[in-house]
Amino acid sequence: MLAELLLMALVLVIIAAITAYTAITGISPLPSTRLGREAVLAALPEAPQGAIIEAGAGWGTLAFALARRRPGSRVIGYELSPLPWAFSQLRRLIQPAPNLRLYRRDLLRASYAEAGVVVCYLHAEALERLQPKLEAELPAGALVISNTFRLHRWRPAAVLHPPASIDAPVYVYRVPEAYTSWGAV
Ligand SMILES: C[S@@+](CC[C@H](N)C(=O)[O-])C[C@H]1O[C@@H](n2cnc3c(N)ncnc32)[C@H](O)[C@@H]1O
Repeated sequence: MLAELLLMALVLVIIAAITAYTAITGISPLPSTRLGREAVLAALPEAPQGAIIEAGAGWGTLAFALARRRPGSRVIGYELSPLPWAFSQLRRLIQPAPNLRLYRRDLLRASYAEAGVVVCYLHAEALERLQPKLEAELPAGALVISNTFRLHRWRPAAVLHPPASIDAPVYVYRVPEAYTSWGAV
């Protein structure tokens, strides 16, 4: 009986923590679908010129796949929600990934200056807040790979459509040499 009560309390705490952070970040830690993940992996350059940064790494599903696909690259994930982040850290015990670092950090306060690739699966409002940072910090030639949501003003270099019609497209952007006040040139 005590064990059941403790288990129920634990489940409630987990649900409450995930719900609270979904309210804070504006998005749940829903992982990319398998086809979405494959589209993101297909968009990776062979040899990224800099780190691969995942903005909002959730449970680490995509971050571990990125680290496996590009073992020669540094992969960095930022996640604010504590439980998904803790889960992704525990995952290291059964799935070692020496080139992967996962930080519990607000992606809007992280630096993108070292990124060769930024990967995200956020929502329109979060992308709108992230975009000025990307414009200010990303080096020319860096890629931004966004699952489902488009960046304002930027023209995608490619739009990948996963084969199942229920899966949203993946948008691939390349940071240009210069920006005008109204967008990329
Ligand atoms: C839809 S999930 C995607 C998870 C993972 N990228 C994937 O594709 O499987 C979005 C994640 O972004 C995280 N997130 C949203 N805003 C954030 C912020 N400001 N700082 C850090 N993480 C954030 C959420 O907590 C959530 O786990």
